[in-house]
Amino acid sequence: MQVTIKIFRYNPEKDKKPHHATYNLEAIETDRVLDLLEKVKGYQDGTLSFRRSCAHGICGSDAMRINGFNRLACKTLVRDVGTRITVEPILGLRVIKDLIVDMEPFFENYRSVKPWFINDEPEPAQERYQSPEDRERFDDTTKCILCACCTTPCPSFWANDQYLGPAAIVAAHRFIFDSRDRAAAERLKILNDVFGVYRCHTIFNCTLACPREIQITKAIGEVKASIATGSLK
Ligand code: SF4
Ligand code: FES
Repeated sequence: MQVTIKIFRYNPEKDKKPHHATYNLEAIETDRVLDLLEKVKGYQDGTLSFRRSCAHGICGSDAMRINGFNRLACKTLVRDVGTRITVEPILGLRVIKDLIVDMEPFFENYRSVKPWFINDEPEPAQERYQSPEDRERFDDTTKCILCACCTTPCPSFWANDQYLGPAAIVAAHRFIFDSRDRAAAERLKILNDVFGVYRCHTIFNCTLACPREIQITKAIGEVKASIATGSLK
């Protein structure tokens, strides 16, 4: 089949402003949008720039807007989006070139919630035991691949990129509700800040966009409830 792909192009070193370029390709319905981008780059225009690594929905590096929705290019098939496809960079972050954005504000927010295990108690003789039920408490938020599909369609993040955003809150949730961790209060204090969880207005764009189907709005609600009640139940 013939596919027409319109791609956002912008090279700040050469272009006064962004534009869209259109490419026509032969494709099959099980081709992924990432395959199409590779074909354009390989055979039509080697200057096209985009991020990708694993090509299997694991590394989170190829988030982009495909026909207006945030998706991973490697997990989006032609049959999912049709034969007229528009590909643009995710919103709310500075475009470095074409589909590549500056992820640093996103990762700065991520780092600020201390997304690592904290427990200074002496090591037990055998293990820091955790029951299956306790592990289940934060299972969903362990699935995050840091793709930014959730944070960048969030109007609160567009309004101010100091808002920690859904991905950072998901990362915090993963440790706050880990029964072995001892820094929940510290993280909840960070999330109770003016740029913390209360900037979330329950719009659900994040949950709709997450390629890992994490219940992000639910996780944010659980963090808000913990701040309000002082309980981790
Ligand atoms: Fe991506 Fe989902 Fe993690 Fe957000 S929560 S960064 S959408 S995997
Ligand atoms: Fe790794 Fe798509 S290239 S998630």
